Amino acid sequence: MARVRKGKSKSENIIARDHAVMIKTTREPYNFVAENGADEFVYDVEGRKFIDFSSFISVYNFGVNSSEAVRKAIADQSSKLMHSAFTDFYAELPVHFAESLIKFMPAGFGRIFFSNSGTEANEAALKFSKLFTKRNYVLAFYGGFHGRTKGALALTASKSVQRAYNGPFPDVIHVPFPYCYRCPFKQSYPDCGFACIDYIRKYPLSKEVDPKEVAALVTEPIQGEGGYIVPPKDYFKELKKVLDEHSILMVSDEVQAGYMRTGKFLAMDNFGVKADIYTMAKSIGAGLPLGVTIVDKRLGNIPEGAHANTFGGNLAVIAGAQAQLDHITRNKARIESEVKAKGRTAMKRMEQMREDYEIVGDARGIGMMLAIEIVKDKESKEPAPKLREKIMMESFANGLLMLPTGESAIRIIPPLTITERSLSKGFDILERAIAKINAETFHKK
Ligand SMILES: Cc1ncc(COP(=O)(O)O)c(C=O)c1O
Repeated sequence: MARVRKGKSKSENIIARDHAVMIKTTREPYNFVAENGADEFVYDVEGRKFIDFSSFISVYNFGVNSSEAVRKAIADQSSKLMHSAFTDFYAELPVHFAESLIKFMPAGFGRIFFSNSGTEANEAALKFSKLFTKRNYVLAFYGGFHGRTKGALALTASKSVQRAYNGPFPDVIHVPFPYCYRCPFKQSYPDCGFACIDYIRKYPLSKEVDPKEVAALVTEPIQGEGGYIVPPKDYFKELKKVLDEHSILMVSDEVQAGYMRTGKFLAMDNFGVKADIYTMAKSIGAGLPLGVTIVDKRLGNIPEGAHANTFGGNLAVIAGAQAQLDHITRNKARIESEVKAKGRTAMKRMEQMREDYEIVGDARGIGMMLAIEIVKDKESKEPAPKLREKIMMESFANGLLMLPTGESAIRIIPPLTITERSLSKGFDILERAIAKINAETFHKK
């Protein structure tokens, strides 16, 4: 270990060393250097305790550092065999995991491909869609985030900096997402009659590309990095009609929204629509890297050798994922009702904050996939990323760990296992921060 430089805290020291050797990523403005954690709590290297409202980017749906059963399964498998070259040689564990996972899927699913991340799961979905349909184009949404490798990056249109110098991406056509709080067509739901769907039909699918050349539309059920944008309940049903008319597949990217986060295993189920391909990552790996692409069996199979990888189906990873999936299998109904109940408690607090504070413009989400949007004032709805940062810094200073999303929203995504007491304590910290910044902003101290 490098020596701690005098005058600097442990965190500051590690961060300075990080900046010297690591390529820049996204990184938050507060000095959080993780040390250890359990349940809904996490400690930094200074020994400070935080309530976790981030699930470490939606990875610890079932508690920080996952359960003892998961850790034991990983340890036991690691002492036997970690890597078995699953795409070349056979092994039972990943097959059993696939069989278990298929039980959570709609009837007719599926065939499964394992990888190591969300971006890879989406790369596979993209490639499979094109192979299945023998079509080249793909539709995706503005504000959508699907990963950072070339194919998934082409689908991503969240922040232009993520795509800089990597285009052009000629096979993807982006269309507006139903972000009703800031409708791109300046209309309001339901009076709009889904003007955004009409647009897809009338413009991209009429004037830009023949629908017969479109393999798939890739969408998140709820936009994650884009700001936790929840479409109206009937949106995907209406959209699916357009897709079905032209045999365009629907890929549901469940990387952030899936795996019980909304109270349902598949977030798309909240909209009563069955996709043709689902992708998952983040929480499904229970803390280790796992990407999953699940396709409807009726789509057939891809040619041998068309796709594979080295680490997909890694035995240590799958052992942990299986232990966590077994837990969900045994307790699904209870988890579902708990997520809904905690989500209701959280939404009540968020809606009250929207009532009470001028800078809270919107409160939204399903289950425990929640966010508030911070604005300069309710009338203008002008995004206020600086105020958001102040709120997050103040909350951090008082022991609450959160992540931003979109231009000016804050995610509220604690582990689903959080107690009502910690949930309430976390909201108390957040509300005090909002009250302070709101008062400062409007000079009402
Ligand atoms: C919806 C969605 N898809 C894909 C990804 C990419 O996942 P990964 O970072 O594991 O590649 C993310 C990551 O935030 C995501 O939220």
